[in-house]
Amino acid sequence: MFQSKKRYLEKGQNRHLEKTPTPFGSSAHYLRLIIKPLHCLRTILETNSFLTLSVLSIHTHRSITKSSMASASFVKLNASSSPWIGQRSFNQRPGSSSRSPAARVSVIRAGSYSDELVKTAKTIASPGRGILAIDESNATCGKRLASIGLDNTEANRQAYRQLLLTTPGLGQYISGSILFEETLFQSTTDGKKMVDCLREQNIVPGIKVDKGLVPLPGSNNESWCQGLDGLASRSAEYYNQGARFAKWRTVVSIPCGPSALAVKEAAWGLARYAAISQDNGLVPIVEPEILLDGDHSIDTTLEVAERVWAEVFYYLAENNVLFEGILLKPSMVTPGADHKEKADPETIAKYTLTMLKRRVPPAVPGIMFLSGGQSEMEATLNLHAMNQSPNPWHVSFSYARALQNSVLKAWQGQPENVEAAQKALLTRAKANSLAQLGKYSAEGESEDAKKGMFVKGYTY
Ligand code: 13P
Repeated sequence: MFQSKKRYLEKGQNRHLEKTPTPFGSSAHYLRLIIKPLHCLRTILETNSFLTLSVLSIHTHRSITKSSMASASFVKLNASSSPWIGQRSFNQRPGSSSRSPAARVSVIRAGSYSDELVKTAKTIASPGRGILAIDESNATCGKRLASIGLDNTEANRQAYRQLLLTTPGLGQYISGSILFEETLFQSTTDGKKMVDCLREQNIVPGIKVDKGLVPLPGSNNESWCQGLDGLASRSAEYYNQGARFAKWRTVVSIPCGPSALAVKEAAWGLARYAAISQDNGLVPIVEPEILLDGDHSIDTTLEVAERVWAEVFYYLAENNVLFEGILLKPSMVTPGADHKEKADPETIAKYTLTMLKRRVPPAVPGIMFLSGGQSEMEATLNLHAMNQSPNPWHVSFSYARALQNSVLKAWQGQPENVEAAQKALLTRAKANSLAQLGKYSAEGESEDAKKGMFVKGYTY
């Protein structure tokens, strides 16, 4: 039985899949039979046990249907036929000793979604558009609502998100919106799915998939991000519900070191998440947020950011992540919030672009910055400064606080203010759209837009 299976594997051609006979019927049927047990195996793999992976050698094929692919992650024997196949074993550093070719195995992405991932990433990274991030957990959304005197109820969260997602004309400036799970599965008060409100405006729905930060034992009071357990099956459900990209936010703290352990853990978690997301059709947004907290200089931030992104890309490559199908969400390179000197937008742009050009391959389609507690206007001015000359990637925004602040102030939880609040959202979205094109002017910005939103030790 394995002979005919092996022959099929070595051929690696889609059209033979349904035809090649095996004792279980067609090869496609045979592969479905082996996929179920693999699903259990994969659950083990997702729980950080990466050493286990290097001994695995399992194969799958593009022509397996998407639903069955959604539950499969694989290793390929014949590595040479795909451009995305790594040639090294999973945890082998370049230059380290290699085993005999016969014993060598390499891990690959399943690859069935490659074309779609590239297309999704390009749609999100389209000229003059960026991401509206409204993926606050229920607890964090509660803080937003409390700032205007509203209780943290599901009805209030629904009213707020409905206001944002039904803003007429939003799709001109916004290409994607990151949702929290509650919103992804929620409808408006008129019974229309929130994801349909987005799709109607050519906005790609996204989903926050991490499960938040917890203390990292053995570190210098740092944290790590949870959420890999069960991520594959959750991602498959999110895809079915209409999500096409995902977000995983982990943090790095400069005042805490950062320790080598915290940086490695952050990078490894992001890479595993990215591989699992791509395997399930979701473009991963890779977000190691380097927190603004601290009194360090901009040079220190540059040094830490270079260290963090080097590690992130090392592990993304190790996990055979398709770079054309990811988006990044970096912090801008700025001095710490408590540093004695502030940096102007030109300096921030120079440092940030220097860091990115040193670390990010041009295969990556888009850099979608977070705002991190900057004022709305600062975040827009900095983005504008970064788009004064051509970049190798689309350089845009994925702001939460820097898009929502003036909306909340205009809304105040009153139905009669919905229109004014939507207008405030459009004003900020348009300003950032212009900044993405390098054509923004801060003339006429309101005093509110100039107010910083930094909160020490902010959690999402
Ligand atoms: P801000 O830093 O822009 O608030 O957003 C961070 C984030 O990760 C939201 O998705």
